[in-house]
Amino acid sequence: MPLVSMRQLLDEAAKGGYGVGAFNVNDMEQIQAIMAAAVETNAPVIIQASRGARQFSQDLYLFNLILAAAELNPQIPIAMHQDHGNSFETCKSAIELGFTSVMMDGSLKEDGKTPNSFEGNVEVTRRVVEYAHPRGITVEGEIGVLGGVEDGHGAGGTGLEHITDPDQAVEFAERTGVDALALAIGTSHGAYKFTKKPDGSVLKMDVLIEIHKRLPHTHLVMHGSSSVPKDLQDIVNKYGGKLKETWGVPIEEIQLGIRNGVRKINVDTDNRLAITGAIRKVLWETPEKFDPRDYLKPARDAMHKVVAERMREFGQAGHAGDYAPIPISEMAAGYKSGKLDPRPSLAGAR
Ligand code: G3H
Ligand code: 13P
Ligand code: ZN
Repeated sequence: MPLVSMRQLLDEAAKGGYGVGAFNVNDMEQIQAIMAAAVETNAPVIIQASRGARQFSQDLYLFNLILAAAELNPQIPIAMHQDHGNSFETCKSAIELGFTSVMMDGSLKEDGKTPNSFEGNVEVTRRVVEYAHPRGITVEGEIGVLGGVEDGHGAGGTGLEHITDPDQAVEFAERTGVDALALAIGTSHGAYKFTKKPDGSVLKMDVLIEIHKRLPHTHLVMHGSSSVPKDLQDIVNKYGGKLKETWGVPIEEIQLGIRNGVRKINVDTDNRLAITGAIRKVLWETPEKFDPRDYLKPARDAMHKVVAERMREFGQAGHAGDYAPIPISEMAAGYKSGKLDPRPSLAGAR
């Protein structure tokens, strides 16, 4: 199966009432882990690469690995997504490479650190939409600012400083025409999200539910949505790691989100923890080993297990065969005719 548009994956998820995990990759083993999980659970999937991942991997390597994944697993719909694009140029270069979806994260300025103005965000996001849609490519935008810093990207803080304002979310969706909208509801990137199991004072599911009521046809996205399970933390620490006690986003809160319009859930940290724990275990228990396959295989298996669990928990399991891929050229025609125009005011007309 060719790579499919993320918009199609999310439209189908909305019809089926489920969420789709978007898993970050930097290398071959992570792609293989995701595909093994997708095959095991028969799930459509979003594979995403951050700017850091594209740089680390020399993105042509990464992109061709994903094409291999699509060729080897023709029954699995795969969308290839740019995570946290910081500028029009980043998104354009991803589209030129062949990504079927981009995130323009205009919630931050191009430096990836400083919160942007609302107008600045609207302007750059709309520019990306105007470039992407005629080419059949999906666009995700972000309104509000997440907490934390990953690989130099992020505003820092707890995630409570810039919670999405529902009025702004509605205006943003209308003025930009994004296909999917990421919200800031108190989550942060990385392992250190919450200092105890989060309640409504720090994880603002009520804000998400309010936005879904106001934008019932917009695909919502939860970033920073690793659950940071204790068993994964424990494995890392048991074999010499030094993680401090921390809490992530509980699966039941994500499932509440999915019942309220969340269609894409971003997960990276849980897989990083699984990989690191597995590698540490091998090197700790058998320090005489030095063949990378001796630790990369358990690492890949550990990530496969986490991703398969998330695919079941998010509900995407079992849905790979529900639909045939729409060619990207047909998506482009759909945007051109207005049939796929995602602006909320046109929802009734679709
Ligand atoms: O946005 C956060 C993802 O976890 C990607 O992180 O920028 O370190 O690759 P990264
Ligand atoms: P986590 O750090 O919670 O895995 O979030 C990943 C993410 O949002 C990538 O965009
Ligand atoms: Zn993110």
